[in-house]
Amino acid sequence: MRITVLGAAAGGGFPQWNCNCRNCAGVRSGAVRAKARTQSSIFIRPDDSADGILFNASPDILEQIRSSSTLQPARAQRDTAIAGVVLMDGQIDHATGLFMLRERGTPLPLWCTDPVEEDLRQGNPVLRVLGHFCGVKRERIALDGTPFEVPGVPGIFLRALPLSSKAAPYSPHRDNPVPGDNIGLLIPDRQKGKTLFYAPGLGEITPPVFDAMSGADCAMVDGTFWTDDEMITLGFSQKTARSIGHLPQSGPGGMIEWMGKLPARTRRMLIHINNTNPILDEDSPQRATLTAAGIEPCEDRMEILL
Ligand code: MLT
Ligand code: MN
Ligand code: ZN
Repeated sequence: MRITVLGAAAGGGFPQWNCNCRNCAGVRSGAVRAKARTQSSIFIRPDDSADGILFNASPDILEQIRSSSTLQPARAQRDTAIAGVVLMDGQIDHATGLFMLRERGTPLPLWCTDPVEEDLRQGNPVLRVLGHFCGVKRERIALDGTPFEVPGVPGIFLRALPLSSKAAPYSPHRDNPVPGDNIGLLIPDRQKGKTLFYAPGLGEITPPVFDAMSGADCAMVDGTFWTDDEMITLGFSQKTARSIGHLPQSGPGGMIEWMGKLPARTRRMLIHINNTNPILDEDSPQRATLTAAGIEPCEDRMEILL
């Protein structure tokens, strides 16, 4: 399978429109060596096919499609390589790009869990609004690990794993998480025998999550924050990383420690990186620590062949 990173940043993107933290101000002025990034999304297609699956629909999707010829194969007057969309959660940064796909001639094939569907019909009613345009052909993601395929994308199987993370603030269960608010996906390419584990929002490495990461050839997981108190220290929020469903990289029990326990063959990648995270600065000591641990921060337009 071919994985295209469309967007590697967390909600807000990098630089964030209203932010003048060291990273955001520095990438604008050039004082910090860092690459701008759009909001979290990836596209996966089989090696020999143009059609693939969009994972999350970011508010930056139009820019992402414009900057990747992969997504516009131009085989007809109206065309797209997006055979279907799979949502990992119902948050703004992963779901509002659906509005931008409204010009389709047929209902958009969309896979999500029941709690995410509910949030996107009630709290942030994207799916109801799309009903006035192309409509949505919603398919249910089961939480018991039953594999599913997206029609038109043969050989790529998807198996969901419920994660401990957070629903969106407009969800009735923001503070009472239910299974399916957030999922990770095991994505095997059956022909090639290679597997990706993808989890852009991940609050806790439970035994099933660690098993999934260890069994994968590439683990592409939550890279939001470096420290648990990152937003508090910067004066942007009162909330810790863990309390909003994101396991930080540094410190005891952090992502770096967990990734250090993975088998040597597993490629370790971080996605959904918040604009405040010091790993974005390519000259920072935190970035050097990450590199020494063999962990790669994703960048927009990165291509990974598995
Ligand atoms: C998150 O991942 O915590 C959310 O997407 C943040 C946001 O976009 O508001
Ligand atoms: Mn997010
Ligand atoms: Zn910032």
